[in-house]
Amino acid sequence: MRRYIVIGHKAATAAIFKLDDLAGGAGRLDVLLRCINSAFFLSHDIRKDVEVILVLQGPPAPARTIRLVGSELRYLNPDERSTGALIRNALMKDPRSEERSTPGIYVSSRTFPDVLGLLGEGTEVVYLKEDGSDIRETELPEDVTFVLSDHMDLTPDEEGLLLQYQPKVVNLGPISYHADHCITIVNNELDRRSH
Ligand SMILES: C[S@@+](CC[C@H](N)C(=O)[O-])C[C@H]1O[C@@H](n2cnc3c(N)ncnc32)[C@H](O)[C@@H]1O
Repeated sequence: MRRYIVIGHKAATAAIFKLDDLAGGAGRLDVLLRCINSAFFLSHDIRKDVEVILVLQGPPAPARTIRLVGSELRYLNPDERSTGALIRNALMKDPRSEERSTPGIYVSSRTFPDVLGLLGEGTEVVYLKEDGSDIRETELPEDVTFVLSDHMDLTPDEEGLLLQYQPKVVNLGPISYHADHCITIVNNELDRRSH
């Protein structure tokens, strides 16, 4: 299982945004939607061994977490607007515990610390960071969880918490890439190793 945890620092935590304004009023939800595309879409298929966890931390509510499970997903299309609608539907729920919104899409009020705390002991945690060690010189198991940020860096508190999980800190190249491009690069790197 490949898992991607992406923090959306400003991403809307309620269904208050317009689908025409995903990059504005939705708090750069467009970045997270592109991460979904990069994580799951192949040419004419969806990666079933991938899970994406989006931690939305913007206004107006406390944090919401959206979890997308590749093996269960239905109705996912490559255009950001329709995926934005699926996320907005999920945000119409106000769950105490995790609830399914549509097939393969779950919503909860989990925070970033909750999400990290729920990772199984068997998963290797990898922090994607520009000044980490080269991914091409890093061994990665099949069950691996990557943590990355949206258009901003992790805050010092988030980074401090993540480091308690003793992640491998890994870079993907000499320059800073968009979050969704990082996921494409990682998927490609792991595909090359497993084929
Ligand atoms: C657009 S970047 C974050 C903002 C960027 N650091 C800045 O303010 O200039 C999105 C995220 O992708 C990951 N990332 C970007 N480039 C990377 C690289 N070369 N190696 C590893 N991770 C990278 C990091 O997790 C980063 O926080």
